[in-house]
Amino acid sequence: MHDDVKQLVAAGYDAIADEFAEWQRGIRGSQRLERLDDLLRRLPLQPDVLELGSGAGVRSTRILAERGRLTGVDISGEQVRRARERVPEARFIHADFMEVDFAEATFDAVVSFYVLNNLPRDEVSPLLDRVRRWLRPEGWFLASFPTTDNPGWRGEWLGVEMFFSGYDVPTTVGLVRESGLEVVEDAVETMIEPDYGEGRWLWVLARKPD
Ligand SMILES: C[S@@+](CC[C@H](N)C(=O)[O-])C[C@H]1O[C@@H](n2cnc3c(N)ncnc32)[C@H](O)[C@@H]1O
Repeated sequence: MHDDVKQLVAAGYDAIADEFAEWQRGIRGSQRLERLDDLLRRLPLQPDVLELGSGAGVRSTRILAERGRLTGVDISGEQVRRARERVPEARFIHADFMEVDFAEATFDAVVSFYVLNNLPRDEVSPLLDRVRRWLRPEGWFLASFPTTDNPGWRGEWLGVEMFFSGYDVPTTVGLVRESGLEVVEDAVETMIEPDYGEGRWLWVLARKPD
């Protein structure tokens, strides 16, 4: 499903790997590392973690790989190539995370940092169902979601054509609850992105019931 959009997203991140990395270094106000630190304190020693849209192997990915067994999935071949080079101890799968599958109860945590605005929003619920199935009982889900009601937008971003989509905050939080995960925390962060100004993200920390 959504093959054209998926190809566009993959080709975009392949093409702008350097520009994106540079742009990302200029972001201010991201709560990523604090949220990750909070998650790590909840996890067992050497956890099995799945990262959705794992990107090029930035610091949060390296921290997860040092702490336990990390599996990353990314649709961009160039992002996966960079991640494998930077984080050789982790396993990276080049795929759409809506197309891969794992056995039930494989992971202690599933995380996703600044990715889910690239996902067509009708795939949010199916993704949450997959996440719940892949998590062990009492496993954790930590992800940032877009915050605006956007059925789907294509346009120029960092010099390539990109796709963004998402729901407003109450809708996303409702979908997480409906998926059977228990929402432990939801909060909106405002970060400052180079050239684009304020960017708002919804952080959700949720747990699979026992
Ligand atoms: C904004 S980047 C963030 C990368 C990384 N999480 C980080 O924080 O640096 C979004 C990433 O998600 C990947 N991505 C987007 N949609 C995806 C999908 N359906 N399946 C797998 N990866 C996806 C892109 O290729 C890109 O590497």
